[in-house]
Amino acid sequence: MSIRPAIIGNWKMNGSGRDVKLVRRFADFLDKQKIVADVMICPPSTLIDRLGEAIKGAKLKIGAQNCHIEPSGAFTGDVSVLMLKDAGAKAVIVGHSERRTEYGETDKQVCQKAQAVIGQGLQAIICLGETRQQFNKGQTLQVVGRQLRGSLPSTATPQNTLIAYEPVWAIGSGRTPKPADIIRTHAHLRKTLLKLHPKSGAKFRILYGGSVSAANAADILALENVNGALVGGASLSFKDFTAILKSF
Ligand code: 13P
Repeated sequence: MSIRPAIIGNWKMNGSGRDVKLVRRFADFLDKQKIVADVMICPPSTLIDRLGEAIKGAKLKIGAQNCHIEPSGAFTGDVSVLMLKDAGAKAVIVGHSERRTEYGETDKQVCQKAQAVIGQGLQAIICLGETRQQFNKGQTLQVVGRQLRGSLPSTATPQNTLIAYEPVWAIGSGRTPKPADIIRTHAHLRKTLLKLHPKSGAKFRILYGGSVSAANAADILALENVNGALVGGASLSFKDFTAILKSF
C-alpha cells in the first residue's frame, strides 16, 4: 500500500525572525519541485504566526513542538492547542524524548496532549524511542510498544496522527541504528498499530527521527514501513533540508 510520506522539521529551541527568509525559501522550493510528501516545519511557538503569514497559501505547513492539554487557564508559561491553532499551526509534536526526559512527561500525559491536539482538528505527531541503555539491553521493541499503546489516543486515525520513532541515542549524535534495526522496530510499531486499530493500522505514517541527514536520508526513507522523517538539526539548513526532501 502506498502511504504519502511526511518530512517534518523540528527546530527545537532554535530560530528567530531572521529565519522567515529561510522558511520562505523552503516554501518556494516545495512549490516549484515535485516532492511527493507532506512537508512541515515546527518552529518555536514565538515564530508560528510570523512564519505562517510569510508562507500563506504555500504547500509547506507550520506546526508546533508541544502544548498544554487545557484550552486556557492559570498555567503560566504554557500554550494551549487552541492558541497554537489560532497562530496557524496545523500539527503539534507531542512526547518528544527531550520533553519526556527534561519534564518527565509520561505516556498518559502524551496521550492526553495528543487527544487535545486531535480534538482541535490538528495533527498529533507522537514521538517514541528507547534510550541507549534500553537499546543495549535489547528492550527496544518492548519499550516502543509500551509507549505506543500508552500514548496513542482512541480517537487517533491515520489522518490526524503520525508516529515518530526516535531512538534517544540517535538524536543529535550523528549515529543512526542499523537499517535492519530500523526495519524491525518500524515493523513492530506497525504490528502494534494494527492490533490497536485493525481497520486503519496499515495506513498510519511511521516516521523515523534521529540524525537524519542529507547523506543518509535516501537509505533510511527507502526502508520498509518508514513513511517519512522527523528531522532536527538538518531542518535548520536550506541545503540539508532540501537535499532530504529530494531524496525520495
Ligand atoms: P536530529 O535530527 O538533530 O538528530 O534531531 C532529531 C529530533 O529530535 C527530531 O525531533
